[in-house]
Amino acid sequence: MATRTIDQLLEEMTLDEKIGQLNLVTAGQAVTGPIGNGDIDENIRGGRIGGVLNLWGRENIGAAQRLAVEETRLGIPLFFGFDVLHGHKTIFPIPLAEAGLFDPALWERSARAAAMEAAADGLDLTFAPMLDVARDPRWGRIAEGPGEDPLVAAVFAKAKVRGFQGARLSDRNAVAATAKHFCAGGATLAGREYAPVDVSERTLREVYLPPFQAAVASGCAAIMPAFNSVNGVPMTMHRELLTGYLREKLGFAGLFVSDYTAISELVQHGVAGDLVEAAALALAAGVDVDMVSGAYVNGLKEALARGLVALEDINRSVRRVLGFKQDLGLFDDPYRRLAPNDISRREIEELARDVARRAVTLLTNNGVLPLSRGLRRLAVVGPLANARGEMLGPWSAAGAPENCVAILEGLKRALPETEIVFHPGCGVDDDDRSGFEEAIALCAKSGAVALCIGEAANMSGEASSRANPALPGVQRQFAEQVLATGVPTVAVLSSGRPLMVSWLAEKAQAMVATWFLGDQAGAAIAEVLTGGFNPTGRLPVTWPRETGQIPIFHAVRSLGRPFKAADPFTSKYIDLSPEPLFPFGHGLSYAKVELANLRVSPQEFSVTNEIEIMVEVDAKNTGSIPAHETIFLFVHDVVASVARAGMELKDWAKAELAPGETKTIGFRLGKESFEFLDKALETCCEAGEFEILVGFEADRSTALSVRVRSFD
Ligand code: GLC
Repeated sequence: MATRTIDQLLEEMTLDEKIGQLNLVTAGQAVTGPIGNGDIDENIRGGRIGGVLNLWGRENIGAAQRLAVEETRLGIPLFFGFDVLHGHKTIFPIPLAEAGLFDPALWERSARAAAMEAAADGLDLTFAPMLDVARDPRWGRIAEGPGEDPLVAAVFAKAKVRGFQGARLSDRNAVAATAKHFCAGGATLAGREYAPVDVSERTLREVYLPPFQAAVASGCAAIMPAFNSVNGVPMTMHRELLTGYLREKLGFAGLFVSDYTAISELVQHGVAGDLVEAAALALAAGVDVDMVSGAYVNGLKEALARGLVALEDINRSVRRVLGFKQDLGLFDDPYRRLAPNDISRREIEELARDVARRAVTLLTNNGVLPLSRGLRRLAVVGPLANARGEMLGPWSAAGAPENCVAILEGLKRALPETEIVFHPGCGVDDDDRSGFEEAIALCAKSGAVALCIGEAANMSGEASSRANPALPGVQRQFAEQVLATGVPTVAVLSSGRPLMVSWLAEKAQAMVATWFLGDQAGAAIAEVLTGGFNPTGRLPVTWPRETGQIPIFHAVRSLGRPFKAADPFTSKYIDLSPEPLFPFGHGLSYAKVELANLRVSPQEFSVTNEIEIMVEVDAKNTGSIPAHETIFLFVHDVVASVARAGMELKDWAKAELAPGETKTIGFRLGKESFEFLDKALETCCEAGEFEILVGFEADRSTALSVRVRSFD
C-alpha cells in the first residue's frame, strides 16, 4: 500500500470498499454502548470495516490487523480506538479531579503517559479528551470533563491534545486524540443523559465552543459530535456547526467520528425516516466515520441510489479516513504500534500518585487534619474505605482493581504506629443497616475516624445522571451515627460529581473531596490526611448546597436585583441561600498564605491599540510549612453593551512559597481578556470600567480588586 497515493487508492477502490472504510465497529472487549457488532473477522476480510474500537493488546490488535492487511483485496490497514480518558493500564484521577490541579503541564504529562501505555497496547486513537463544560452535577458525565469554566476547558484541551498526540502522530508512542462531545452536552435538559439541549447562540459561543476551538488549534486529529441535539438539531447531523464552524471557520481538517450508534439514532431523534436518510444526513453534515450503527454500510448505497448523497460526499470522507491512517503511519507500517515497547510502568505509577495527591481537595478543616502520626487508634469506616475497584472511576479503560491502593491500605502504610480498625458500616447504595452497630462501636473507641463515603464508580460517567446527587443508600444515616459518637471525624468523599452534603460539611471536623483518584487513590489520600503532602486541589466546579440550586456556577451574568440577604426583593430563594456550599476554586491548605498589595498598570488604556495590562499581587506564606497555592484572576466588565458576568476567569497562577516567604505573582492581560460578543454577537472591545479581581476562589467578598478604565 505504501507505494500508492491516496488518490490512486481511491481510484482502485470499489464503492463497497470505500463505504467499508467509513465503518467503525466494536470488538466488545469493553462494552460502551447498547449494541455490539458480533464477530467482526469476516467483515474485516470482506473490506467492510475501516476501524475497530474496544479492542486492545498487541496480540488481539495484531490478529485483526493481519486480517485487513493480508486477507483483503487492497490491504488497507485498520485503525484501533479506545476510551483512554484518564490512563490506560495505569489509572489516573478522573478528569474532573485532574482539572482541580489547574496545572497544564501535569495535564499534558498524564495524557502522554496514558498515550504511551495505550500505544504500547497497539492503540492508534483515544476517544479523549472529553471537553464538555458542565455546571450540572446531576449529569453523570461531569466526571469526565474539565469542569464549569470555558477557559479551564480550553487550556485542558490544548494540554491533552498535545499529551496524547505528542510531536508527530506517526510516532510509535503517539495516539490520535478525539475532542468530544461536540457540543453542549453539559447543558442537557434537567441534567438527564442524552436529553435535548437548548442554549442561546451567545452561551454556545461564550461557553461551549471555546474548548473545541482550542482543540482544533492544537491539531486534534478527530472530533466526536455529541449524542444530543442543540436547539432542535441533533449534533450528528449539524452541518452548520460541524462543517460550517469547525471545518470552514476554524479549519479543522481531521476526522469526525460519530458517537456510538448516534447516526442510526437520528431516526429516534425524529429527523430521519429510516437508516438510509440517517446515513445521508450524517454524511452531508460531514461525519466521516459511523461508530457501530451500521448506517453507512447498510444505508449509503441506497442513499446514493435515492440521490440523497453524491459519490463525492463518500469520496471526501474516505479520503479523510485514508489520510488519517497515513498520518498515523499505518500505511508505512500497519504494525508500528505492535512492536515490543518497554515503557516504565513505575514512572507512570509515580506520576499517577503525584497527580492523585495534588487532586485531593480539602473542603473544610477545623484543625483535625493533618492526622497526628502519634494517633493511637484510627477507625477507617464506610463503604468506600476498602473499595479498590470504585477508586478507578468511570471509564477505567484497561485498568484493574488489583492495581489500586484502597484508602484503608494507604492509611495503614502511612500510619505504621497507629492501630487501624476497619468496618464498611454499610453498602454504597442499599438499605442494609446491620453493620452500623459494629462500625460505630469501633469509632467510639478510636481517637479519630476516617469516614469513607460517596458514590460507586458506575454512579457517574455515561448514562449515570442522578436526580438526587446526595449520598446514596443509607450512608447519611450511617454518617450521622458516626458523627454522633463525638469522635473527631474526617469525611473522605469519593464521587464523580459534587454531592449534596451541606449537612456533613457542618458536622464533620473536616471534609475532603477525592473524586475518583485511580490506582494511587489510597496512597494519595493517606499522604494528604497525614500531612505528608499539603493539599493543593482546587474545585473546578462550583459545589451546590442543594440540587435545587442547579445549574450553579461562578460566571453568572449580572442582573437587576442581585442577592442581598437583608433585602427581600433580590435574587434569592426563600428556603435556601443562593450562595454555593463551596465556590469555584475553593480548596484549603495546611499552610497559611495571604494576598496583599494588588496593583495594576496601566490603570487607564485605549481599546483601539494593543492592550497589555500587568497585574501583580504579593503572596506571603505566614505559616510554618511550605505552601503551594493557586491564585485566580477574574475580570468584571462593569458597564458594557450587554450584561457581563460578575466574575470571568481570565488566568490563574501557581505560587510555591517557603514559610515566611513573600513573592510577587504577576499576570499579563491582553486585549482578548477585555473582548466579548456584542449584541450582534460580534467580537468587540468597548471603552469603560473594569474590575480586576484576584483571589483564591470565585468569591468577590474575599478577593482583592482594583478598578481600571479603558477609553476609545
Ligand atoms: C460512548 C460515549 C463516548 C465513547 C464512545 C465509545 O457512548 O458517548 O464518549 O467514546 O461511546 O466508547
